[in-house]
Amino acid sequence: MFPKGFLWGASTSAYQVEGAAYEDGKKASQQDIINKDSFQKYGFATADVASDEYHHYKEDVALMKECGFSSYRFSIAWARIFPDGNGEPNPKGVQYYHNLIHELKAAGIEPIVTMYHYDCPWALVEKYGGWLNRQIVDDFAKYAEFLVKEYGKEVRIWTTINEQSIIVQYWTQKCYIPEELLDGNHNQLRYQINHYMNLCHAIACNLVHTYVPDGIVGAALGYSCIYPLTSRPEDCMAMQNAQALRNDYYTDIYFKGIYNKAADTYLKEHGLAPVIENGDMDLIASGTSDFLALNYYASECAKACPADGKIQIQWSGVNRSGKKGDISGFETHPGFYQMCKNPNLDTTDWDWAIDPTGMEYMLRDLYNRYNKPLMITENGLGAYDTLTEDGKIHDSYRIDYLREHIRAMKRAIDKGVEVISYNPWSAIDLLSTSNGVKKRYGLIYVDRTDDDPKNCARIRKDSFYWYKKVIASNAEDLT
Ligand code: BG6
Repeated sequence: MFPKGFLWGASTSAYQVEGAAYEDGKKASQQDIINKDSFQKYGFATADVASDEYHHYKEDVALMKECGFSSYRFSIAWARIFPDGNGEPNPKGVQYYHNLIHELKAAGIEPIVTMYHYDCPWALVEKYGGWLNRQIVDDFAKYAEFLVKEYGKEVRIWTTINEQSIIVQYWTQKCYIPEELLDGNHNQLRYQINHYMNLCHAIACNLVHTYVPDGIVGAALGYSCIYPLTSRPEDCMAMQNAQALRNDYYTDIYFKGIYNKAADTYLKEHGLAPVIENGDMDLIASGTSDFLALNYYASECAKACPADGKIQIQWSGVNRSGKKGDISGFETHPGFYQMCKNPNLDTTDWDWAIDPTGMEYMLRDLYNRYNKPLMITENGLGAYDTLTEDGKIHDSYRIDYLREHIRAMKRAIDKGVEVISYNPWSAIDLLSTSNGVKKRYGLIYVDRTDDDPKNCARIRKDSFYWYKKVIASNAEDLT
């Protein structure tokens, strides 16, 4: 059974919904630049308007209230607060989040705030390369301190950095990385960026613990449980290697303050390990997390692979077309593991394996190992939706997906796992990080296309009405 007071809601991130990219003092973030490029190359929407939540936030909060949300996870755009990344805060940007938080609180909705969701201020990229430079740790620390002091009276639940593991894997979508670093010879930088983020995460945890009296804080991690392709011992070992490098490498930092040994050894053997300065590991160990927020969409599968060959990370696992099977290859670490398709699972049109059982597996495994509360801060189905002539969206496929994942979460809770919230992706349709706006996730449809933002009218999908019943019954009624 879901406990009383369980937080139900949904999630978004700033650059994927807000729009108003250059309004009221905000300057560009790296996502404004990356998404302009994706528009040129693939025809995916820019972040200029996105879902225009900046202008629709009152309407959106009213819809969340109507649906019965008790929480809403959103992120703050660093470049709206500090347009130049550091220096003087932008009063209008600061006020926008006060307005949003007040609106939410007045509607009885608890804000869950993410400090950073892929959108480094472009000014810092221009100044020193953004996340490629250790200087960002100082600027992030000042930004995080500002946030907790400014909003800490109203915001109790904080997540620090969104999806470090996914930033490592898909660094060009999530960070601005100059062309000349993409030839495969600079993969160490992925782990260096991650190290800087670990420092930032620890600093942010310490800040919340210092300035927010009853505050709780943790990272939001993109997490897939990993199965072996077969029961051959070599494949099971490869699965364990993939688990170490893709998952434990992050969770061991958050809860134990150490780099996972197997992953660290592998990275050192291949010249990929981050440079660590004196005092870094003490700082990381001091900034412990109160919970882990999980973004779970799909499980993964790994198999053994020969020791000769090249490490392949760049462009692995990307499907740009939205046609099943059109995937750009699989991450390979020769002699360690290779990711592969799981023949037992159906996928989305973008080749993400649909696996509710994987959610239960993940929750039980993580709780067994770390014994800390868990939150689901993302979970959802990216799909093509059709707006019917009479203005409806019949997304039964999304309802099926969410229902089975809620059931899986319930099974984990019934076996003793402490889960405190469920915030699927996404509250409203938004700009996907990899596929424009035609790949939709929302409970609420936003009427726009990749090349035409139209008026971004909001329309409740069938999943909205279904989720409303789920919340009202504390998930007793999933029909
Ligand atoms: C998560 C991110 O990785 O997955 C979100 O935190 C993202 O920002 C979501 O939108 C779905 O991925 P995509 O690429 O389909 O948008």
